[in-house]
Parts: sequence; C-alpha cells; structure tokens
Amino acid sequence: MNVQIVESPAKLDTVGADFVAALIGSKPSATVLVATGQTPMGLYAELGARYRRGEIDPRSIRAIQLDEYFGLSEDDPRSLYGWMKRSFVDPLGLDPDQLVRLSGDELDPETICRRYDEAVRDAGGIDLSILGLGPNGHLGFNEPPSDADAPTRLVSLSEESIRSNGTYWGGQDRVPRQALTAGMNVLLRARNTLLVVSGAHKREILRRTVHGPVTSEVPASYLQDAANVTVLADRDAWPEDVTFN
Ligand code: GLP
Repeated sequence: MNVQIVESPAKLDTVGADFVAALIGSKPSATVLVATGQTPMGLYAELGARYRRGEIDPRSIRAIQLDEYFGLSEDDPRSLYGWMKRSFVDPLGLDPDQLVRLSGDELDPETICRRYDEAVRDAGGIDLSILGLGPNGHLGFNEPPSDADAPTRLVSLSEESIRSNGTYWGGQDRVPRQALTAGMNVLLRARNTLLVVSGAHKREILRRTVHGPVTSEVPASYLQDAANVTVLADRDAWPEDVTFN
C-alpha cells in the first residue's frame, strides 16, 4: 500500500484530483469506478472544475457504479446512481454510454449482478477504483464478514451502515435495508485503487484497514494484499502511531 497523508480535507480533494487526472491523462479511455458517500465529493467537485477549465479530458472514460440501494425507483432522491450522476457524471459531462450501472428495476437481483459483472469485464476491468471507507470497514456495501471472493450481490445492510447512511438522508428510517454492491472479487482486481479517508471518526477503522490482520471482519483490510493501492487520508483520519514507508 502507498500511503499519502495530507493536512486537510481540502488538500485531500486536490491531491486526489491530481491522482485521478494523472491516470486519465495517461489512459484517456480509463475505466473508473466511482464511490458515493461524503468523502470523495470535494475531489469530484475539483475534477469538475478542472474539466470546465479544459485541464482534463474525460470524453473517453467509462464510469462504473459501485453500489445501489435495492428497490428504489430510478428518480428516488436517495438513489446512489442519482448521487453519482449529480456529483461525477454531470460535472464531467459524461454521456449515458460512458456508464456501467448497477441497476435494472425490472430485473431480479441476480440478473442485475451478472450483467454488471459482464459489463465490467467487457469494459476491460477497472483501471481505477475510487473508494471510501465504511465505518465498519466495508467497501461499497461489502459488509463484514465479506471475504476476498465475495461476489457482486444483494446484501442486507448492517446496523452500522444504516446509522451512517442515515446522515445522508435525514434519519435511519429513510435508509433502505438492502443494497446491491460490486463484489470484493471485482474491487480487489482493480488495477489501481484510491481509498480516500477523512476525519477522526475513521481513525480506528483506518488503523484496522492498513495495520490490522487481513480479515473478512474488516473487508477493506484485503486491500493490503491488492495491487497498486493508494490510501489518501487527512491528518485527522490517520492513526499517528502507525508509520509507513
Ligand atoms: C457508504 C457507501 C460507500 C462509501 C462509504 C463511506 O456506506 N456504501 O460506498 O464509500 O460508506 O462513506 P463516507 O465517505 O460518507 O464516509
């Protein structure tokens, strides 16, 4: 794992955007998996600003959805695709044919997941996965315990995820109880991963992610064994006693 610690959330946004911009610059047709959640929002806003200034060219990238609540209508304000569209797809001017989505209201969950995996494969796999860190160590909605082979699937959300997601939608009652998630077996195959982590409330789970045993109880800990993982954390999130070289 590469670790980069920055002074502030604002710095996380610009350094994270530098990272994504460099990848898109070196591979204009890159496939980029895009997490929602609060942490990468400033990074995406920074990318949008760079696009408007003509500093990056995302016309040939493919954007891949990470997860989605199950059973919401397309236009439900809580849709994670809707969040991805507002924060990443629209600010970067992406067209629908540049997207790989994890949804399909009319289909059963297994078919949605199988089609998603095929679409990711057909796109050539994931060049860059931009991930946040769940408060319980989940990636996407791979709730503990999830092992490295956990496939793309329908999951029931843990109490902890319902609580943390409640902050997005004005209360836990507003959080759907089930979700679809890209599998660990998809995420761990990404050619590059950028894990963005911000705030003191993430410090303990970040410690277990980068320093603890590799275990299905902390799904993000499998990133210790994955290729080309960069952990980008602000100082509040980084456990001071953990050193990295
Ligand atoms: C959520 C999502 C993840 C997200 C993570 C961290 O539950 N399922 O995709 O990356 O938790 O969210 P945040 O960045 O808001 O802390």
